[in-house]
Amino acid sequence: MKRFSRQLFRLKDLNMILAESHEPGHRLKKVLGPFELILLGIGVIIGAGIFATVGTAAAGDALRPGAGPALIVSFAITAVACCFAALCYAEFASLVPISGSAYTYSYASFGELIAWIIGWDLMLEYCVGSIAVAISWSGYFTALLHGFGITLPPWATIDYRSAMHGFHKAAGLLNSGTNFDKLQPVLQNAWNAVNSAPHILGLPIICNIPACFIVLLLTAILVTGIKQSSRFNVAMVIVKLVVLGFFVALGSFYVKPQNWVPFAPNGFAGIKAGAAIAFFAYIGFDCVSTVAEETRNPKRDMPIGIIGSLVICTIIYMLVAAVFTGIVPFSLLKTSLAHEKAEPLTLAMQHINLPWAGVIVAFGSIVAHIAVLLVLILGQSRIFFSMARDGLLPKVFARVHEKFKTPHVTTIVVGIIIASIAAFTNIDEMVDLTNIGTLFAFVLVCFGIIILRIKEPLRQRTFKVPFNPVFPLLGVASCIFLMTALPGITWIRFVIWLILGLIIYFTYSFEHSLLHHKAHPVPLHSEHTH
Ligand code: ALA
Repeated sequence: MKRFSRQLFRLKDLNMILAESHEPGHRLKKVLGPFELILLGIGVIIGAGIFATVGTAAAGDALRPGAGPALIVSFAITAVACCFAALCYAEFASLVPISGSAYTYSYASFGELIAWIIGWDLMLEYCVGSIAVAISWSGYFTALLHGFGITLPPWATIDYRSAMHGFHKAAGLLNSGTNFDKLQPVLQNAWNAVNSAPHILGLPIICNIPACFIVLLLTAILVTGIKQSSRFNVAMVIVKLVVLGFFVALGSFYVKPQNWVPFAPNGFAGIKAGAAIAFFAYIGFDCVSTVAEETRNPKRDMPIGIIGSLVICTIIYMLVAAVFTGIVPFSLLKTSLAHEKAEPLTLAMQHINLPWAGVIVAFGSIVAHIAVLLVLILGQSRIFFSMARDGLLPKVFARVHEKFKTPHVTTIVVGIIIASIAAFTNIDEMVDLTNIGTLFAFVLVCFGIIILRIKEPLRQRTFKVPFNPVFPLLGVASCIFLMTALPGITWIRFVIWLILGLIIYFTYSFEHSLLHHKAHPVPLHSEHTH
């Protein structure tokens, strides 16, 4: 029994990983400074969160109340939670400055089982997060085409359950005595999707084709190994900032302060629920820590890069939230977003009768989403790749393409999975699942800092979280606080996901792990006899 539990926590040797990363062929150039890190952070952070989920956070949905104009408070609360987690990520990155994720760090520090749980859990951040971003991209892409007079058939731009949700929503509105004018567009949208759909065996085919398409396109690009150069990233960051700046500047002329009253229509419950959704908008800052190895002075630059990009994004998000809720009255938000869920910022522009401005926002948004989507798909395939290289997943996922030198098998499999699920799922459910998974990973990382300070006090750290263990504990507490604001069904899905992961670990990965093979080498004669 003791031996078994020792095996569960077998460690990858940290010194070996560090030594590998210092070998001449593997050493990365130290070229990044604080400014580059901040740009990198903004490039990964700003995407579907501010362009799409902001609508649900403000208006709420069937599962939770909305924050209303107090959405700016939700953004501030989430930013504080992220800051604590960000500091812990920065220390991890400075301790094990290799290009990797929390998965690699934990394999070296806490052993295989915890590393597996983190790797499995990170799929929720990267894989499910990509699905949400792809669905959001599709919403804005459809809105952009619509702005140019091209209307895609409704059955091809929505998933089946969201289409059906339209009928349920209409029934709810009818029960609550809403007048028919408000009900009509909700019903019309749902009806259009079902009625226009081709049928197979009597069943309507309703699926989100643009979401599927963008994922497959980016997967193809990633397989051929086109790297996201820093110039490309700077261009993306400029587009994001210009479009959101345009939204705030133009929208501020149309803000009606009376729309901000009441400020928190659903009290603290609405603010908390909004904060848990708004968390999606911040996901990505953890990616900055993965370039620690390429940073000139990680001790100084990592915290500046991570915290700097968080602060800038928080200010932008609060401005956008203030203008958005100042333009569209809360009562209208609640009904309109039931059928315009994926593109709230264009909805705001339409509300003030500036559809051309909506087209500009939609254009900027679809460009901005692409940078985030690329990073998430790339991150997911690299995690799969590392897990396969360690023997925890089938070896085929660790194959590298001869010509492109990319992990093509894992990238293609990941791309196909993301594309297929994006065609049939609903953005809010995917955002909730991403958030709970990422928050859980943050909780483990924050705990990890406290444990490592005790276990390895002498190991060199170029950056240390101040006020240990208070800050890491505040990180743990604030992430758990946000997790508790997510709907019960999200918790159920999350627990099922973790159980599934453990089943795979104990039935496959445990035996196939490279560390297991090192500890139990196959005797030579048994190779001959079998
Ligand atoms: N923070 C990223 C986004 O909002 C995931 O799209």
